[in-house]
Amino acid sequence: MVQSSIWVAPMAGGPSTPALVRAAAEAGSLGFLAGGYKTPDAMSGEVAELRASGASFGLNLFVPADEPPDVEALRRYRASLAGEAERYGVALPELRLDDDDAFAAKVEIAVGAAPTRVSLTFGLPGGDVVRCLQAAGSLVVATVTSLAEARAAQQLGVDELIVQGGDAGGHSATMSPVGYQGRRPARELVAEVVAATPLPVIGAGGVGTAADVAALLDAGARAVQVGTAFLLADEAGTRPLHREALLAGDRDTVVTRAFTGHPARALRNRFTDEHPDAPLGYPAIHHLTSGLRAAAAAQGDVEGMHLWAGARYAEVRPGSTAEILARLDPR
Ligand SMILES: Cc1cc2nc3c(=O)[nH]c(=O)nc-3n(C[C@H](O)[C@H](O)[C@H](O)COP(=O)(O)O)c2cc1C
Repeated sequence: MVQSSIWVAPMAGGPSTPALVRAAAEAGSLGFLAGGYKTPDAMSGEVAELRASGASFGLNLFVPADEPPDVEALRRYRASLAGEAERYGVALPELRLDDDDAFAAKVEIAVGAAPTRVSLTFGLPGGDVVRCLQAAGSLVVATVTSLAEARAAQQLGVDELIVQGGDAGGHSATMSPVGYQGRRPARELVAEVVAATPLPVIGAGGVGTAADVAALLDAGARAVQVGTAFLLADEAGTRPLHREALLAGDRDTVVTRAFTGHPARALRNRFTDEHPDAPLGYPAIHHLTSGLRAAAAAQGDVEGMHLWAGARYAEVRPGSTAEILARLDPR
């Protein structure tokens, strides 16, 4: 039974652990497992662990993009990273252009497990996928970043919308990444979508305090999905250097494509400064830079790491998931 108006966001790449999702459920919230990047087997293991615990939970999947990447631009970007490869002592891999995050296999696992909710990010799937998930017993939630995306999701027949503002930490869910700069705050976007669509809206983006949660609820959101604040949760799998950089609170955030080829809000560092013109090309650029980022982390160099953070990160504090939920509760 979900009592909290705060949902714990899926955070792919390590921070979302089954322990985080279970702690959210135990504290009356809804937590999401992050299906993105994982192999179907690894995702299936986490889903099974959550099901065995009896907790209700959500599952997030990345929808592969339809747009073919500009391979020449990706080749140029790869060449421009030679200095980074030398700095960190790693070989850059060849471009990998065929990764669809095993979407079909993951949908099959989701249908088998029927979590409370399945949220979709980066795009919209075919209507058959939505209907299969619904028939299995899950509510289907589309993550949208504009009114046009909200309308397309509504037409597809989803049950709910996560409306993500440009102030959100991590990847934007935008389905039109060309020129995306993350300038529209969640509050403004939530109010616009609530006025124009009948679907329940969950607001996301730029939450550091209970007042930020209250502002999104006042704008018409039924619930608020929070990511960055839970990067500092005891149960999260966030890397220690990422936690330290968040706690220091002394950097700006920027929207960058440098690490993955898709716009994402991160703490500004040397890497974001030196690669401001990275092309679009997710997930090819994610694969291209993952060795560099791992080496930077192993060498203790935050200047080469992707430090995802929402615009209000400087307000967040460590604690257990239950404590952070209580701190953010505006009631
Ligand atoms: C480290 C990190 C990883 C994220 N990974 C995902 C993800 O896998 N899927 C997704 O839908 N959203 C992801 N997000 C975005 C969140 O769902 C949410 O929209 C965002 O965190 C809200 O903004 P806030 O960070 O200011 O609270 C991620 C956010 C962060 C900070």
